Amino acid sequence: MTATNSEKKLSDNDFIISKTDIKGRIIYCNEIFADMAGYPIGDLIGSDHSLIRHPDMPKIAFKVAWDLIQSKKEFFGFVKNLCADGSYYWVFACISADLDASGKIISYTSVRRKPTQSAIDAIIPIYKLLQNAEKSDDIEASSSLLNNFLFENNTTYDKFIISLQKEMELKN
Ligand SMILES: Cc1cc2nc3c(=O)[nH]c(=O)nc-3n(C[C@H](O)[C@H](O)[C@H](O)COP(=O)(O)O)c2cc1C
Repeated sequence: MTATNSEKKLSDNDFIISKTDIKGRIIYCNEIFADMAGYPIGDLIGSDHSLIRHPDMPKIAFKVAWDLIQSKKEFFGFVKNLCADGSYYWVFACISADLDASGKIISYTSVRRKPTQSAIDAIIPIYKLLQNAEKSDDIEASSSLLNNFLFENNTTYDKFIISLQKEMELKN
C-alpha cells in the first residue's frame, strides 16, 4: 500500500482498542479500530499488527514498545498508522501486557486516543531525526540519538512522552 498525505482524525471521545497474542498478531479489535484502519474486522483478526505500520515511523519506537511490554511495563507513545487506502491517522497509544494468574504474559492490549495536535507537531521532527539516523546507521544510531536527547533534557522516555501529551493538553 502506498502511503498518501491524506489524514484521518480520531474523534475526541473515541478509543481504539486492540489485543494481540504474544507474537503481535491481532486477536481482538473494536469497531473504531476497523473503521479507522479501513479493514473489515474479519481481515484484521489473525493479521500481524504491523499490517498498519506506517513507513514514517522510526523502528526505535517499536523497539522501545516491545522492550517495555515484554518486561511487563506500560508503553506510551505517539504512533502514526497506515490505513488500507494509504491514508494515515495519529494516536496516543498505551500498550501493556496481560498476565495470567502465575504472572505469565498471555497477550497484549493497546488502548489509544486522539493525540493533541501540538504533541503531534512536536513528535514529527523527532521521529524524522530518528528515522534519518536509522537510514544511515540502523537502529543503534537512533537508539543513541534518543538516549542522548533524553539525557540532555534530563528526562526519561516515559516522562517525556506523557509530559508532551499533558503539557500540550493544558496549552490547547
Ligand atoms: C497490542 C499491540 C498493539 C500494537 N499496535 C500497533 C499499531 O497500532 N501500529 C503499529 O504500527 N504497530 C503496532 N504494534 C507493534 C507491531 O507489533 C510491530 O512491532 C510494528 O508495527 C513494527 O513492525 P515491523 O517490526 O514489522 O516493522 C502493536 C503491538 C502490540 C503488541
